[in-house]
Amino acid sequence: MSKHVEVLSSSSALVDRTLQIVVEEIHRALEQRDRATVVLSGGNTPKPLYEALAQEDLPWSKIYVFWGDERYVPADDPASNQRMARQTWLDNVPIPAENVRPMMTDGDSPEADAQRYEAQLREFFGLEPGDFPVFDVMLLGMGDDGHTASLFPQTDALQVCDRAVTVGNKDGQPRLTLTVPVLNLSRCVIFMVAGANKQTALSHVFAPDGDEDAYPSRLVQPLNGTLWWLLDPEAGSSISVTDRRG
Ligand code: 6PG
Repeated sequence: MSKHVEVLSSSSALVDRTLQIVVEEIHRALEQRDRATVVLSGGNTPKPLYEALAQEDLPWSKIYVFWGDERYVPADDPASNQRMARQTWLDNVPIPAENVRPMMTDGDSPEADAQRYEAQLREFFGLEPGDFPVFDVMLLGMGDDGHTASLFPQTDALQVCDRAVTVGNKDGQPRLTLTVPVLNLSRCVIFMVAGANKQTALSHVFAPDGDEDAYPSRLVQPLNGTLWWLLDPEAGSSISVTDRRG
């Protein structure tokens, strides 16, 4: 694993840098495999990134979009990660509908929908039993409690290692989430983190020793891929890094 930590000079510089790396990784995947698989994070931080991606001229027919997690709400719910990504990006580019692979939340239960998404991933990647999907770009955010995707502190989802998709739990509310093994098999993992409210969690995540159950983002250690931590000035103010970019 190669790890890079950058504190950018502004929130717009954070968006620009993240966009640059995402586009570079998409082109790398296209060169190597003639397709690119991109996993989206939810929340607020990636919204300007998705708006910027909507302005890019990319071979959309060769780009496949998945989600790293999803709130267990209808697709048209204001809290839906799918809805946010479609409004800010996917509805504004000519990406084929079949290339957009949201986590379904209209089934019998969160557990059933987690299994549905797992089955969809297995079919898309042509996986053998026991294999996990390997995504080209894994976009992640981090909550102020150190969670990522819907892998929340002290929850059972952190321990799931025999499935690609499981049910996360945020304060008793179910969420669908990719599991730690899938995050760590990605070719490129990009954390995009902004806001002073993330400082404390980041210090725990970056500490040499710590409690992974308390700060689940510590669990993201790509086995063979590249790990990027891209921070805005507020989030990264207490992080000692070699890279402070413009
Ligand atoms: C979600 C995300 C989640 C998010 C963090 C940070 O469904 O909310 O996938 O993991 O990345 O909670 O959220 P903000 O970007 O809103 O701070």
